[in-house]
Amino acid sequence: MYGIIRGKSVILGVCGGIAAYKSAEILRLLKKHGANVRVLATRNALHFIGRHTLQALSENPILVDLFDEGPDASIKHIRWAQEADLVVVAPATANLIGKFANGIADDALTTLLLATDCPIVIAPSMNTKMYENAATRRNLEQLEKDGRWIMPPGSGALACGTSGAGRLPEPAEIIDYTVDVFTPKTLAGKRVLVTAGPTLEPIDPVRFIGNPSSGKMGVAAARAAAHRGADVTLVLGPSNIPDPPEKSISVIRIKTALEMRAAVLDHFDDVQIVVKAAAVGDYRPVSPREHKIKKIDDQLTLVLEKNPDILMELGKLKKDQILVGFAAETQFLEQHAADKMNQKNLDMIAGNIVGLPSSGFSSDTNQVTFFYRDGTSETPPLMEKYELAHLLFERIERRLHVT
Ligand code: CTP
Repeated sequence: MYGIIRGKSVILGVCGGIAAYKSAEILRLLKKHGANVRVLATRNALHFIGRHTLQALSENPILVDLFDEGPDASIKHIRWAQEADLVVVAPATANLIGKFANGIADDALTTLLLATDCPIVIAPSMNTKMYENAATRRNLEQLEKDGRWIMPPGSGALACGTSGAGRLPEPAEIIDYTVDVFTPKTLAGKRVLVTAGPTLEPIDPVRFIGNPSSGKMGVAAARAAAHRGADVTLVLGPSNIPDPPEKSISVIRIKTALEMRAAVLDHFDDVQIVVKAAAVGDYRPVSPREHKIKKIDDQLTLVLEKNPDILMELGKLKKDQILVGFAAETQFLEQHAADKMNQKNLDMIAGNIVGLPSSGFSSDTNQVTFFYRDGTSETPPLMEKYELAHLLFERIERRLHVT
């Protein structure tokens, strides 16, 4: 759930292209995230998607022509423009892009685009040749110079039978991009290092010691930091989560605690904030076997040795960086969290009791208590990991001094 768009007034502009059918899903997702959505469609859009579909999904009348909605319609688009917090045009055709770049306002959508001063996201969608055409390139460049947010189109098979750039990104990607645009850049100029996921410690070539960490909390933290304007390095243990789409996140995939340590130490000097959400394996087999262990013996003893405590090392090395740890406990959360904060020289620790279905390893939500260096703590309500990540950075920004 993206709380940042909850309760916001979002205008969805829909142009006449095959991809207009995707606008129904974009609309549904915006509503799901709590936005109040109003739709402005071009007349051509209605060849591809029904007026009633858009109207029913948005729970608002839709606007097409300047004069087709009764006596007040000629000013409705201006009122909507003034009330809008954000405009998303998806799909945006070459025609719309050309008109907007040149200040032409000949229907409700193009007029609204000129009449609003809120952020405008343009998601182009068209045939590759049209997208690559010098006129379209020029118009997109102009819109970018004007401070509009141009979402790069996807590549692949297009409805016209060709293949290449020009595909409307998936609705969920458009929402992600929109949320990114809309999030205040409170961490602009900052560099953040996040670790996430489990580490796997090899026993032999086909077996390992691991833990069920999914990486969701750390990846959510990396994305929230990126949306707040930070440059993020994400050191990610084995996880099914694909690389986050944000350009400002560089992902380093590792397997073992030793690999994680090397990647973290490589970047530590360059960052101002470290969030260590990874579930690092505390021990590793002393000498992983070169070949698969056969089940010959009734008992098998594995000798393990301690992994380095990465966060503890960072705590010793730290100059003015902010160090945030996570602590997953099965009991005595407060005491263990306080001990870890002291031993590892942390500024803040997010602790939780593992084992609750709504919280912990692979859940989308998390229930934590934030413990601070000054001995205070707070327990926010159960929330989505992405929202929790924003709260974590909000607290870092407000309570700790990021220099
Ligand atoms: N951590 C780390 N390196 C390790 C172990 C843990 O950097 N070898 C970090 C984790 O990423 C987390 C914090 O330390 O931010 C606490 O991890 P946790 O597993 O809860 O505690 P441990 O320090 O391993 O202590 P214990 O297992 O005894 O609870």
